[in-house]
This record gives sequence, structure tokens and C-alpha cells, in this order.
Amino acid sequence: MVEIYICMGSACFLKGSEEIVKIFSEEIAKNSLNAQIKLKGSFCLGPCNQGVVVKVKDQFFKHINPENARTIFYEQIIPYIKKIEGEENG
Ligand code: FES
Repeated sequence: MVEIYICMGSACFLKGSEEIVKIFSEEIAKNSLNAQIKLKGSFCLGPCNQGVVVKVKDQFFKHINPENARTIFYEQIIPYIKKIEGEENG
């Protein structure tokens, strides 16, 4: 199980974190990834001017908005999760 933390701090919230949560949960459901990926809200993650900010383990994904959320999910976040899962499983 990998957790994706979506920043709900005020700067990111204003840039659409709620919408990002919606988009990510749709894509997770669509790909039957509910058993592998858990979405969580987070307090401010730090780099507020680069929001919306999302964190998986120690990796930050920045500048996410409702328009690019799906692209970032499939091109950056999913490959990263696969990579860390591969490392954990040896
Ligand atoms: S509000 Fe999201 S990083 Fe600060």
C-alpha cells in the first residue's frame, strides 16, 4: 500500500487540491488500484508557491492543477509508485 498525500494547505487548496483528489480517486478506481494506493490529505507540505503539491514517500510532485493532473498521475506518479514497489519487493 502506497500513500499519496495531497496538500490541503491554503495555497494549494486555492489552486484546486479538492479537484485533484477527485481526479486521482477517479483514476485509481478506474484502474482498480484501490488496494494498492491510498489517497490522503496533508497539511501544508512546504513549497506553497509550487502547488498543488503532492507527496509520495520522499518525492514531491509540484505544479499540479486540474488540467494536468491526469497526465502527471500517469506519467510521473504511477511510474514512481511502481519503482518504489519494485524496490520494496526486491
Ligand atoms: S499549501 Fe501546499 S505546500 Fe503549502
